[in-house]
Amino acid sequence: MKTKFNRIYLDYAATTPMTKDVIEAMMPFFENEFGNPSSIHQFGQQADAVLEECREILANHLNCTPEEIVFTSGGTESDNLALRGCALARKEQSGANHLLISAVEHHAVSHTAEQLAKYFGFELEILEVDSVGVVSPEVVQKRLRPNTALVSVIYANNEIGTINPINEIGILCRERGIPFHTDAIQATAYLSLDVEKLYVDLLSLGAHKFYGPKGIGALYVRKGTPILPTQTGGGQEWALRSGTQNIPAIVGMSAALRFVEHNQETWKASLSMLRDWLIDHVLSQIPNSFLTGHRTQRLPNHASFVFRGMDSQKLLTLLDIAGYACSSGSACKTGNPAPSEVLLALGLSRELALSSLRVTLGKDTTFEHLQGFFDCLKATVNKLRQ
Ligand SMILES: Cc1ncc(COP(=O)(O)O)c(C=O)c1O
Repeated sequence: MKTKFNRIYLDYAATTPMTKDVIEAMMPFFENEFGNPSSIHQFGQQADAVLEECREILANHLNCTPEEIVFTSGGTESDNLALRGCALARKEQSGANHLLISAVEHHAVSHTAEQLAKYFGFELEILEVDSVGVVSPEVVQKRLRPNTALVSVIYANNEIGTINPINEIGILCRERGIPFHTDAIQATAYLSLDVEKLYVDLLSLGAHKFYGPKGIGALYVRKGTPILPTQTGGGQEWALRSGTQNIPAIVGMSAALRFVEHNQETWKASLSMLRDWLIDHVLSQIPNSFLTGHRTQRLPNHASFVFRGMDSQKLLTLLDIAGYACSSGSACKTGNPAPSEVLLALGLSRELALSSLRVTLGKDTTFEHLQGFFDCLKATVNKLRQ
């Protein structure tokens, strides 16, 4: 994407621009069609009909029933509801108090699990990953216990792009009757979210990572999964997430999902070619550069590196001045000089972990953008090293 300032955006994992169609779909719901779906009158009924249409779009995409979709305010809230809601319900039902999460979860999952351990009496166990960030089903199998309340493993990692074998882990949990959550927030634009094939009981998504609006997301909750609300009030969303639904944003998210359905296969093919071109050029032409994450089992739009001896904050600043917007990892870490926990979990030293660069492509990225970016990156790394 070329902005009006002539900058090239290569940070689609942080957020994506809404498409014109998404914006147009939302507009009527800010103006004339403003009803509250809980109201009895026709304004309300119309809003409710739209809400249920959108729920069906999500349900079709996930291969579940509309009753299994809960609208939330975004990815973070979906993760919070999944973890806190399910863990507390499991503890109340059966006394299960053991939580298993991977070492490469987003803070929306890891900090929630840490809070459950600190204040609610859960024992938190971390599933280690291999050097490219994969959670192995064998490791999960060894760690599952009769009192495991919940397992959470990220589908595709935001910092290193690695895709996890979710269905294999899901089968292990299903066999033992243990609820399994996956954070699919980065995966939605590129991977299948068929919850039957994935064997998940809870799945989080957030619209602004797939060309929808910010501040809206959803949680899939398989029928029968123990879960308590974390936000109580008027009883909306099957009493799991009270609060008047954000209809314009829900309409935008549904339009964005349609856009994904239409383009996913094309993006997978075209972006993975661009990604591979960039990875090959960086690794072969920039000395002391290393790929982080899996070489092939990674998101098609995701390239992430470390450059020995480089300060990633300086690198990002110079790239930004040159007109290229990238990241050092998750957007939430920007401005925070602490090394990424995800990179440390791969076994990288603190110094290498502080030298990371994440380049994430999207619908408007072209080969010319990447060529220009690569030349600039090579020159900037050389300059900083001198
Ligand atoms: C993997 C993952 N989980 C959760 C989140 C949080 O999502 P949101 O920004 O919608 O709250 C993000 C956003 O960066 C993410 O990449």
